[in-house]
Amino acid sequence: MGAAIVPWHARRVRTTDEPPAVLAEDVSKTFLDHGRRTTALAGLDLAIEAGEFVSIIGPSGCGKSTLLRLIGGLIDADRGALTVAGQAPADGRRAKRFGWVPQSPALLPWRSVRDNLTLLPGLNRGQGRGPVADDEIDALLDSVGLAPFADSLPAELSGGMQQRVSLVRAFALRPPILLMDEPFAALDEITRADMRFLLLDLWRDTRATVVFVTHSIAEAVLLSDRVVVLTGRPGQVADELTIELERPREHGLEDADAFHHHAARLRASLNKAADADGGPASDVDGTVQP
Ligand SMILES: Nc1ncnc2c1ncn2[C@@H]1O[C@H](COP(=O)(O)OP(=O)(O)OP(=O)(O)O)[C@@H](O)[C@H]1O
Ligand SMILES: [Mg+2]
Repeated sequence: MGAAIVPWHARRVRTTDEPPAVLAEDVSKTFLDHGRRTTALAGLDLAIEAGEFVSIIGPSGCGKSTLLRLIGGLIDADRGALTVAGQAPADGRRAKRFGWVPQSPALLPWRSVRDNLTLLPGLNRGQGRGPVADDEIDALLDSVGLAPFADSLPAELSGGMQQRVSLVRAFALRPPILLMDEPFAALDEITRADMRFLLLDLWRDTRATVVFVTHSIAEAVLLSDRVVVLTGRPGQVADELTIELERPREHGLEDADAFHHHAARLRASLNKAADADGGPASDVDGTVQP
């Protein structure tokens, strides 16, 4: 069979018959909390191809974390169809297809850095890739400059170092899909800039599909193949921006005209999405002034 034209996005021509890494069609999610209904997402359509790095950006409370939790099979959609490599997300979760990088590192405080990486939950239960070999852990720690801290406890590391361990942990099992929810939001700007390039290095070696939630325009442009802009709650896709910057993305790219052009486009799109909803865009940080 030849390449199929994908109906949900007129600009994209697929060159594979494999199912997309993530396919959401008309997905809605409403929460019921103490009798109050909150519709987080309504009628969301999104397709992400295997190996794509896609950022999700949008106003606070528009359902970004909810979308990640739906993709990761932690919660179910009320309406619409959502598949991960053609499977139900819950099956993907059971098959350990996902790596998670939350906003704060969530390391086990009583375990050393090494044990946080080797003793991944459920690793020895015959699922996934099996235990991570010691030399592989050493190589990963070395690649993020943490080899001397393999036997330290998390409390002995800075916040940035802990988040590096969290990144390595997510990549250690080489999951096909990485779900990242504002993983660098709690870090200072300099550490954050380093972490972005570290992430790109790790990703380049694995080519996992990444779904990356961020409030930073600069981060979205620097990292992504494509940025998906959500409207205010209930979130749905307002716009998509393909980032046509060559890889590998190098330090200093943020100063290039092409970078500013993309950032300006993305900012305009965010403002439009927020205006359309009548909500504020003020929670989108303004680290880039195009
Ligand atoms: N378990 C839950 N129970 C009730 N309401 C929820 C639950 N999870 C999320 N919500 C609501 O759904 C909406 C979307 O939440 P979500 O956390 O997905 O937003 P977000 O885009 O990630 O926001 P932020 O940028 O602030 O992290 C919010 O109004 C939130 O209060
Ligand atoms: Mg969130």
